[in-house]
Amino acid sequence: MPSSFVMIAYLIAGICFILSLGGLSRHETARRGNVLGIIGITLAMVVVLLSGEIRGGMPAILIAIAMGGSVGIFVARRVQMTSMPQLVAILHSFVGLAAVLVGISNHLDPAHAHDLGAEVIHRIEIFLGVFIGGITFTGSVVAFGKLDGRISSKPLTLPGRHWMNLAMLVACIVLGVWFATIESVIVGMIPLVIMAAISFVIGFHLVMAIGGADMPVVVSMLNSYSGWAAAATGFLLENDLLIVTGALVGSSGAILSYIMCEAMNRSFISVILGGFGSEGGAPATGAAGHDLTYHQTNIEETASRLSSSRNVIIVPGYGMAVAQAQHPIREITELLKTKGVKTRFAIHPVAGRLPGHMNVLLAEAHVPYDIVMEMDEINGDFPETDVVLVIGANDIVNPSAQDDPGSPIFGMPVLEAWKAGRVVILKRSMGTGYSGIDNPLFYKDNSAMLFGDAKSSVDGILHHLRNGA
Ligand code: TAP
Repeated sequence: MPSSFVMIAYLIAGICFILSLGGLSRHETARRGNVLGIIGITLAMVVVLLSGEIRGGMPAILIAIAMGGSVGIFVARRVQMTSMPQLVAILHSFVGLAAVLVGISNHLDPAHAHDLGAEVIHRIEIFLGVFIGGITFTGSVVAFGKLDGRISSKPLTLPGRHWMNLAMLVACIVLGVWFATIESVIVGMIPLVIMAAISFVIGFHLVMAIGGADMPVVVSMLNSYSGWAAAATGFLLENDLLIVTGALVGSSGAILSYIMCEAMNRSFISVILGGFGSEGGAPATGAAGHDLTYHQTNIEETASRLSSSRNVIIVPGYGMAVAQAQHPIREITELLKTKGVKTRFAIHPVAGRLPGHMNVLLAEAHVPYDIVMEMDEINGDFPETDVVLVIGANDIVNPSAQDDPGSPIFGMPVLEAWKAGRVVILKRSMGTGYSGIDNPLFYKDNSAMLFGDAKSSVDGILHHLRNGA
């Protein structure tokens, strides 16, 4: 295929990716964004296959694409919405590992031999690809383990851990200088492999040191790292589209991480550096042994409170996603509207387990966008609200974030549900949320627990409202 065609196709694919990112930033246009992304990547793959840049092994590549594609389709069809962050984390780990393997194979490939000056630059590219890829690989595997509950979400705070990270970084730089200046390819493997091993340890250690409450930011940060690893691989393979795409993923992931840090009042630098400057938060405490008392309510009482209110706010959380309660909740909002009750949703930026999780579920249930409010838009309205229904949410309505400096989530903005006249919390037990800490909201005088699976409780409330509660 002539190189001008390849360049034009790459340009079109690059534009598709940019438009795709633009589309994904709003839920109304997210579907279109996804379709544009698929078109871009399909075009890119077809062009690479036909460009003649692939030296031999075409059948093996096609078999690998068929195998990888089949596994991808199988996993994506089976994965629950609530497990998407784990899937995203493990996919980032593949990008990281691929960058490490491409870097090492590129170093060993005699076809990539250059004259001395170009060789030093080439070695630096290999070094960066392997280094960032190594951190992304193990960091993402740990993030997967934490999100999937296979590794404790408590931060691992080894004594002198920041010094250890610094020492490993310095060791990598020294090895990198040695690697860039060594002439023999075989001897060069020594610093390269040692540096790759150290980068694996850095990735593992950085993410192990981050507590559960900061994991959303870490996942988006690893997304960014995987983009930079792909961009470094693009330099190695001299593929312009991979450089552009990697840079797009890298920068958009970094911007998202920054926005999430702002939303959660976390230091961006601290999260990138494995909790640098923080002690990772106090140890998590459970509800067990709590001597405070809580009030309980039931479905009938909740339904009649709702229908006699003027203002209601619904706070959805991870439990709503687990219970798949969004459809009957939408019906409740419609019924309350017919009764003249103003009902809105309050969405916390990290409600659920992935950015935009609640927005996607509510959109899927056809909840009108104009009653779905972001935290900043609605937080001031709680004092004028008669009833707040907290549905399967916990950490995002925890007042300790404002009044307990020892809490691991202290400083994180929360929905101030406790300021409403009455708060009804729908969950199955007094158990903790993702960050594993107790929630004083449950023990407040104006709070009442409605125990049970969120879907059955919401179905029950809907039934009573329909029957004239
Ligand atoms: P959580 O604090 O995790 O609380 C969810 C609550 O839902 C739990 O306390 C659980 O209590 C309840 N629940 C679970 N299944 C239920 C069911 N079937 N019916 C009724 N209730 C059920 O969730 P949240 O308030 O949405 O906060 C999100 C947390 O996840 C934050 O800590 C955030 O940092 C973290 N996180 C967020 C993301 C992103 S980007 N959104 C990614 C990773 C982690 P019971 O067991 O008693 O029912």
